[in-house]
Amino acid sequence: MNHDFAQNLLRLRKARGLTQEQLAGQLGVSPQSVSKWENCQSYPDIELLPHLAAFSVRIDALLGYQSEKLRTSQYESKYRDPAYYWGNDVWSGCYEVLRLMPPVRPLRLLDVGCGEGQAAVFFARNGYTVSAFDVTTSGIEKGRQLAELHRTEVDFFQADLLNYQPESDFDIVFSSGVLQYIPRGERRRVLEGYKAHTAVGGIHVLNVFVDKPFLPVPPDWEEQEDFWSSGELLSCYADWKVEQLEERIFDCDSSGIPHQHCMDVLIARKMV
Ligand SMILES: C[S@@+](CC[C@H](N)C(=O)[O-])C[C@H]1O[C@@H](n2cnc3c(N)ncnc32)[C@H](O)[C@@H]1O
Repeated sequence: MNHDFAQNLLRLRKARGLTQEQLAGQLGVSPQSVSKWENCQSYPDIELLPHLAAFSVRIDALLGYQSEKLRTSQYESKYRDPAYYWGNDVWSGCYEVLRLMPPVRPLRLLDVGCGEGQAAVFFARNGYTVSAFDVTTSGIEKGRQLAELHRTEVDFFQADLLNYQPESDFDIVFSSGVLQYIPRGERRRVLEGYKAHTAVGGIHVLNVFVDKPFLPVPPDWEEQEDFWSSGELLSCYADWKVEQLEERIFDCDSSGIPHQHCMDVLIARKMV
């Protein structure tokens, strides 16, 4: 049995806020059938595939086949080490999410490029409904283990931020240390996709590494990473309310070699 199908179906059903009974009703099958599919006990009949496609998902993705090859990242092997490469602390932006949008009602949060899942698990433990993806299988696996350790639930899945299209709206889109993997010409398109899938009143909490002529390129910078320029992130949010904007330089020794980064931090809110 293909576990990917069961997991993908469960994820997509939850992302749409449907119960097994509601999905069964939409497909004209019994709730027991949906339960069996999600528990890897059986597959739907082939004639149901067009109905599942109407459920607005590509069949190849639902069955667990990637039609586009996923990029790789140096972190794939780094995350295989049992120790957590990024440690236990979360970026201060996580606390800004708590301050600006406390989970006093159900709030859906997407963590883009979640790494080993520390922030995603932090948010889930604080009461958010969290989906989180990364391009690495090892990161996703470690995120799942971390969620289990803390007895909390996160919808972790593997995806490439260049191809991933949100399947439903989120209240919060969060990303730390990741957006430099989007090539310059693609940035607006990718961010517009996330903006379109953000509920009115929702926020984006993002940071980007910025190029400064007086700072050397960090030792662990990858070929597919590309610096942002000062103010570039802000220019993508001219139609949103900017809640916070900051540029800072900080020390880092992620590769074991001390170096510095310049980072722009933006928190923006969708008003209409
Ligand atoms: C600097 S790490 C940050 C990880 C995490 N956000 C954190 O703060 O701990 C960058 C992450 O981006 C992920 N990444 C790189 N390219 C990606 C892509 N195309 N799609 C999704 N994730 C990607 C890497 O696997 C890595 O986990």
